[in-house]
Amino acid sequence: MVAADSQTILVTGGAGYIGSHVCKAVAEAGYLPVTYDNLCAGHSWAVRWGPLEGGDLIDAARLDEVMRKYKPAAVIHLAGLIVVSESVRDPAQYYLNNVSGSIGLLDAMRRNGIEQIVFSSSAAVYGEPEMTPMPEAHPQQPVNPYGTSKQMIERVLQDYARAYNLHSVSLRYFNAAGADAGGEIGEAHPVETHLIPLVLEAAAGKRHSVAIYGEDYPTRDGTCIRDYIHVSDLARAHVLALHYLDNSVGAHAFNLGNGTGTTVREVIEVARRITGAVIPVRLEPPRPGDPAILLADSSRARQLLGWQTPHSTLEQMVSSAWAWQQRAHAGQQVMV
Ligand code: UFG
Repeated sequence: MVAADSQTILVTGGAGYIGSHVCKAVAEAGYLPVTYDNLCAGHSWAVRWGPLEGGDLIDAARLDEVMRKYKPAAVIHLAGLIVVSESVRDPAQYYLNNVSGSIGLLDAMRRNGIEQIVFSSSAAVYGEPEMTPMPEAHPQQPVNPYGTSKQMIERVLQDYARAYNLHSVSLRYFNAAGADAGGEIGEAHPVETHLIPLVLEAAAGKRHSVAIYGEDYPTRDGTCIRDYIHVSDLARAHVLALHYLDNSVGAHAFNLGNGTGTTVREVIEVARRITGAVIPVRLEPPRPGDPAILLADSSRARQLLGWQTPHSTLEQMVSSAWAWQQRAHAGQQVMV
C-alpha cells in the first residue's frame, strides 16, 4: 500500500523486466511509481504498483502532460532498446530511442523543474575489459552502438549536472537475472536473447536445445564468464540511488554486479540440477563482441549506497526464474 502523500517517481520503461521490479521496490519504499512506457517491449500486466501512462520518450508534449499531471519528485529512466546485436545491425534506432529519447526526457525534466534522475546504464559502456573485476574508473571503449548510446547519455548527464543542476546517478548493470519472489512479474522479452531464460525454455521443452556461443575462451571451462545479479537486488539499488540524490549533487555512476563470475556451462549445470531436465546443448561459434569475462567491482555501490545483494546466488536466480517460467508456461501470464 502506498500512503496518499507519498512522493511520486516517474519510471520510464516501468512495464519492462527490470522496470517492473524497480516499480515494486519503489512502492515498497513508500513512493508512488508512475510508469511511462510505449509498451513496445513492456507489458501492461507488469504495471501493478502505480498508474501506467502510455507515451514515447520522443513525444515532448506527452512528457510535459504526464509531468504536469503527477509532478514527480524524480525520474528513474529505464526505457530504451537493449538488444546488442540489433544495435549493430540498426544503430539508427538505438541512437534515436536511447540517445535522442533520453535527451528529450532530460529537457522535459528541465521544463518541469525536476532535478533528479536515476539512469539505467550498462556494463556495455566499458567494452573489452582491461582488468578484472572492473571498477567504475575502468576505461570506456564500448564495442557496439548499444553501449555507446549508454555512454553518451552518461556524458550528457555530467554536462547537465554542471550547467542545469540536474543531478543524476547512473547505474551500470551487469547481467540481470531471476524474478521477483511474489511470482507476478518476471522476464518476458519480445525476442529473448539472454542466457538464463533461454536455458530454462530448453528445460521446459519450449526449445530443442540451448546454444553455447564458443568454448575456447581463456576461462576455467572455455565458456564466457558473466556477473549475474538478481533483478530484485538490482531494483533495490534504484531506491538507494534516490536516497543518495537527496544528499548529493552532480553526476555519479555505480557498477551493479555480484562480483561472482559464472561460466555458461555452470549456468546450464545449475539449471539442470534445479529443473531436473536434461537441457540439450549445441555448440555454436562465439557471438561477435562477447568479451570472455565481465565481472563488476561494485564496492562503490556497497559503500556509498549501502547496497546489498541478498538474492544473488546463482541457485536463487535460476530457481526464481524457473518458478516464473513455469507460471508463464501454465498460462497464468501470457509470454510472448
Ligand atoms: N550465451 C550463450 N548462449 C545463448 C545466449 C547467451 O552461450 O543462447 C552466452 C553469451 O555468449 C554470454 C553469456 O551467455 O557469454 C550471457 O549472455 P546474455 O545474452 O545473457 O548477456 P550478455 O552478457 O551478452 O549481455 C548483458 C546485458 C546487455 C549488456 C551486456 C554488457 O544483457 O544488456 O551484458 O556487455 F549490454
